[in-house]
Amino acid sequence: MKATAKAHTNIALIKYWGKRDERLILPTNSSLSLTLDGFSTTTTVAFQEDLSEDQFMLDNQRVEGEAFRRVTKFLDLIRQHAGKEQLYATVNSINDVPTAAGFASSASGFAALAAAGAKAIGLDLDDQALSRLTRQGSGSACRSIYGGFAEWEMGELTDGSDSYAVPIAPAERWDVRVAAVVLSSTMKKVSSRAGMKRTVETSPFYAGWIDSIPNDLKQIKEAIAAKDFEKVGSIAEANCLKMHATTLAANPPFTYWHDTTMRVMQTVGDMRGDGIPAYFTIDAGPNVKVLYLPEDEVRVKQKLSEISGVSDVILSKPGQGISYL
Ligand code: ADP
Ligand code: DP6
Ligand code: CO
Repeated sequence: MKATAKAHTNIALIKYWGKRDERLILPTNSSLSLTLDGFSTTTTVAFQEDLSEDQFMLDNQRVEGEAFRRVTKFLDLIRQHAGKEQLYATVNSINDVPTAAGFASSASGFAALAAAGAKAIGLDLDDQALSRLTRQGSGSACRSIYGGFAEWEMGELTDGSDSYAVPIAPAERWDVRVAAVVLSSTMKKVSSRAGMKRTVETSPFYAGWIDSIPNDLKQIKEAIAAKDFEKVGSIAEANCLKMHATTLAANPPFTYWHDTTMRVMQTVGDMRGDGIPAYFTIDAGPNVKVLYLPEDEVRVKQKLSEISGVSDVILSKPGQGISYL
């Protein structure tokens, strides 16, 4: 009744930004990501007959409030699946990633929780079923079941049975690197969940975002298959800018960017001017991820580290999917 799983975060190259069903976490668009080896969550779930409620420890601290409710609601799904509604658990999770700062802690966090929870209660799920379950904890997490490049197919059905991630290319296929440029590890003011909801409901730019996704996805999948780095990078960078543009037109308007975010974006453009192929992407937070190739690692790290306001640069390779410890 006890299991431990490890999952890595992923960085979206084509962003998930908006839900058509908030309860089931069904997206308004398909998305595509690269799993990263640099950031991870390790979670142990132990179901115990003698407990009368769940307990959630994150980084050795007892968690209550909204983050606790998200975990218990997710455990309810696992319990229902297994037909063991009255069985509660202790969850011990260690984030080797800043929590709620735009580094996709919800992705590694819910992927590890789903894998450990399902195993601990005795469910035998294949990757597709595990991805579908994980999706209901945090949408981006359903892609972290797989290593390398993965696509979350939005699906069409109202019950969510056709909404899950599929592997596009394993981590070994292509050694693309990602530098996570850390400006701030403090928790963001607008969670991903609240930010995308406000955007869907109020941003007049949202329709343009949705219209542009099928072509972005088609093009980036061709570019990944061809290992065309410049094409992958430029599509990802443009897709990120489109997503962030939708927030500026929301009501009330908001942005995840800080002044240093923009300095990093400018430096990445300057690097390209100097002949270094590098491209940025940004999730729901101020921190920037920079895509580059292994041969440029030293120069990329140096240039990014010199930017005023940057506190750390963490380098990642493509990471593996779920593993059990
Ligand atoms: P992020 O950019 O870090 O993904 P989100 O706003 O999407 O930010 O999600 C952050 C939330 O994810 C946290 O407030 C918490 O509810 C949840 N979370 C983060 N890490 C874990 C974990 N290890 N286990 C369970 N839930 C987690
Ligand atoms: C900008 O998966 O964190 O990082 O499904 O509400 O938990 P919930 O949101 P979350 O949203 C991620 C948004 C994003 C883009 C992406 O990862 O695709
Ligand atoms: Co998240």
